[in-house]
Amino acid sequence: MKCLTLLFLALITLIGRPPRTEGAKILATFAFPGRSQYIFAEAYLKALAARGHEVTVINTFENKPVPNMRFISAPKIHKHYAEAMQVMQADESFLQKQKSFSWLLGIISECLLENESVQELLKSGETFDLVIAEVLHTEALYGFAQHFNATLMGFSTYGTDYNIDELMGNISPMAYNPLISSPRSNPMSFVERLENNLEIWLEKLVYEFYHYPKMEKQYSKYFPNATRTLPEVLDSFSLMLLGQHFSVSYPRPYLPNMIEVGGLHISHKPKALPDDIKQFIESSAHGVIYFSLGSNVRSKDLPESTRDTLLKVFGSLKQRVLWKFEDNLLPGKPDNVFISKWFPQPDILAHPNVKLFITHGGLLSTMESIYFGKPVLGLPGKCICMYANSVSTWRRTL
Ligand SMILES: *[C@@H]1O[C@H](CO)[C@@H](O)[C@H](O)[C@H]1NC(C)=O
Ligand SMILES: *[C@@H]1O[C@H](CO)[C@@H](O)[C@H](O)[C@H]1NC(C)=O
Ligand SMILES: *[C@@H]1O[C@H](CO)[C@@H](O)[C@H](O)[C@H]1NC(C)=O
Repeated sequence: MKCLTLLFLALITLIGRPPRTEGAKILATFAFPGRSQYIFAEAYLKALAARGHEVTVINTFENKPVPNMRFISAPKIHKHYAEAMQVMQADESFLQKQKSFSWLLGIISECLLENESVQELLKSGETFDLVIAEVLHTEALYGFAQHFNATLMGFSTYGTDYNIDELMGNISPMAYNPLISSPRSNPMSFVERLENNLEIWLEKLVYEFYHYPKMEKQYSKYFPNATRTLPEVLDSFSLMLLGQHFSVSYPRPYLPNMIEVGGLHISHKPKALPDDIKQFIESSAHGVIYFSLGSNVRSKDLPESTRDTLLKVFGSLKQRVLWKFEDNLLPGKPDNVFISKWFPQPDILAHPNVKLFITHGGLLSTMESIYFGKPVLGLPGKCICMYANSVSTWRRTL
């Protein structure tokens, strides 16, 4: 009897042994207020949480609860939305544009660092194994890594450029990699290469003498007990994930710790569409056109004449049109047009009855249309967003 009890106890301990966990504590900082930049990273962060890592995210949005994820939302930057849009779309000289952009990035990181919950976290004595930082000239924010004595990893939603190459110690071939914010495409003519170099040097000057000193000031203000200097922090990236894919970009060298992950946000199994959208798409005899200018540009802000033209053209088509429009009412909307403030874009593009995508050419939209094999009609605006969207994306793709 004793023997049996012992055996039973031994069995219980064997079966009941708690599983060994290897979860890491991860802090992710995504300060840029653009939705699509965050959508891209979100898929990755959720996947980490689903695998048992404890993920803390500091971003600027309202967040739905997710198991294993904790959110600190610092929404103050959205108060500057109108100013920010002006900065991004302004018709300024190249130098002035750089300075405006630097101004914007400065307030983006300040709005995040000054938040009281972020300050509490800094003073909490909590520890993290890994800090994932969105890489976007918000250098002061990389300081979280040294504060928590954590490994620093970068996440770039727009792929690489000479700046990220520099962070990683990579070479950046200016002769055949056009600046991401420029409309030039490879191969460049001699004059274009000259312009490319000149613009890069101007950007570097603005960075060196205008942007970097500001970031260093922020860094010493918010990390007064820093164990590393800012240059040391900038030099400490262990890994860089890049929102780019070689099939839509130019040949370029990478280091082994720079990894292209473009398209990672696309779920391989499309989710079911909401009933009204599904019904609208499936009962259209001639197919459906999907029209969206992305999450950073609001099509309700289009000039009235442009909007009228679009309405007239859409109204004359046999096809039905889904239009991402940010208002409840669209005066003069024809019956074959369906408006909504938000569409589950990848799931819509996955639908076989959707025949055409009219788009601003953002990086995520590009990746999604390629993945689902949808023809596109590009409507590039004037410098909609210097980083994520560029006419050159389309030059490369088409
Ligand atoms: C700071 O973050 C907290 C937690 O997410 C939020 O509730 C609060 O509104 C933020 N404060 C400001 C000034 O944005
Ligand atoms: C920081 O982390 C490293 C390795 O993880 C460890 O050796 C070191 O003691 C830590 N430093 C502090 C100040 O905690
Ligand atoms: C810096 O160190 C001081 C003294 O130890 C402490 O009171 C303060 O909270 C620290 N500040 C931050 C931001 O960690």
